[in-house]
Amino acid sequence: MPKKIQSLSGMHDIFNSRYDYFEKIREVSSRVAKEYGFKGIEFPIMEETELFARGVGGVTDIVEKEMYTFKTKGGDFVALRPEGTASVMRAYIEHNFYTRPQPTKLFYFGPFFRYERPQAGRFRQFWQFGLEAIGKSCFVVDVQIIKVISNIFEELGIKTKIEVNNMGDLKCRKEFKTVLRRYLKKRSNLLCSDCKRRLKENPLRVLDCKQCIEVKSEAPQIIDHICKQCRSDFKNFLEFLEELDIPYNLNPFLVRGLDYYTGTVYEFFLETEDEERMAVGGGGRYDGLSKILGDEERPATGVAIGIERIILAMEKSGGDIIEKKIPDVFIAQLGDLAKKKALNLFEEMRNSKVDVAESFGQDSLKSQMNRADKLGAKITIIIGKEEAVEDRVILRDMNSGEQEKIKTEEVLKEVKGRLKKNKNKD
Ligand code: HAM
Repeated sequence: MPKKIQSLSGMHDIFNSRYDYFEKIREVSSRVAKEYGFKGIEFPIMEETELFARGVGGVTDIVEKEMYTFKTKGGDFVALRPEGTASVMRAYIEHNFYTRPQPTKLFYFGPFFRYERPQAGRFRQFWQFGLEAIGKSCFVVDVQIIKVISNIFEELGIKTKIEVNNMGDLKCRKEFKTVLRRYLKKRSNLLCSDCKRRLKENPLRVLDCKQCIEVKSEAPQIIDHICKQCRSDFKNFLEFLEELDIPYNLNPFLVRGLDYYTGTVYEFFLETEDEERMAVGGGGRYDGLSKILGDEERPATGVAIGIERIILAMEKSGGDIIEKKIPDVFIAQLGDLAKKKALNLFEEMRNSKVDVAESFGQDSLKSQMNRADKLGAKITIIIGKEEAVEDRVILRDMNSGEQEKIKTEEVLKEVKGRLKKNKNKD
């Protein structure tokens, strides 16, 4: 026998109850985003590698170690998208979105790819829901985005904590990098080999190294080195969060793993008793990204949340927020002629917006009746061999167990009448 093929490490199938959670998250997140004026956008799964190398930053873990890149047959260097912000900004510039009223508010939901070491909540293909608002600088938009995500989490029954920091604008960041580099240079013998290199190229990345914990813990903090304007913007941002009753914690070590951030940054962490902290979302301002991608400076801000991690949290919380779909009618059949008639009846019911279920793959009437019972159908229509020939059906009220034989042509009217009566009783 040929070898069985399995999914790739870190890539996974989503099915059964997890698919129900997945659908629910997609429905809730896009609905809430639309309520706040965000419009949907889809963008390609593959882009020029350079978009991420420049956008996310050449010295980030994402670009250095985690990107799926390859050369196409035509000789182009392409990458599977590791995140959505650079692509949305590419689309914004390419389609001249700045000619519309600003900010342009967009949302997306899709798969992303990072060659990370798979572990609980960390995959190589994972799904994100993201929001981006580009074209206008105002901390109200940052706060609104946090509010949108908080509302989504609340509706999904997930409890999170928000941690915030400010990374300074491009100018004060440059000054901070000099201070940080000086500090790190004195301790370079304690740095891992990656960080020794980062020290020269981008010392900020040392601050999110998972190995150099000790050196990081006493490092100068960016918040003490930001300029007057950044400080005042950050103060306003925090005041607006308080105004909206959104609790937060300041985390001076939060620097995010992507280079494009400027000013306010934040992450959503699951509120759990586990020691391991799990980020379910993160974002912030990225006012410099458009320039890096060859356009003029466009103020921008956004966030993305990790769908698999939300599913895990929903499973753990055990909240029963997936409504069980109860069909109004179940159609059971016995024999080939009955099967044919049942198929037609199913279509007729569906076209008339009756919630109808079936199990045409099963031949035993007993198993079909069990299925109808399990689903909680209100009425079961039974077409046996005899009924199929007579062009009649048996209608069974699943509550009382009463049965009645009626002509096939009258079924729809009768079913609708009974359902209406039931509804009025409720
Ligand atoms: P990020 O922090 O890299 O930000 O990812 C956002 C979220 O995606 C994380 O908090 C996490 O929940 C989820 N996530 C990331 N990597 C994985 C993985 N390997 N497996 C499972 N889940 C994962 C961004 O991607 C930015 N583009 C967010 C943003 C939008 N900033 C501004 N606008």
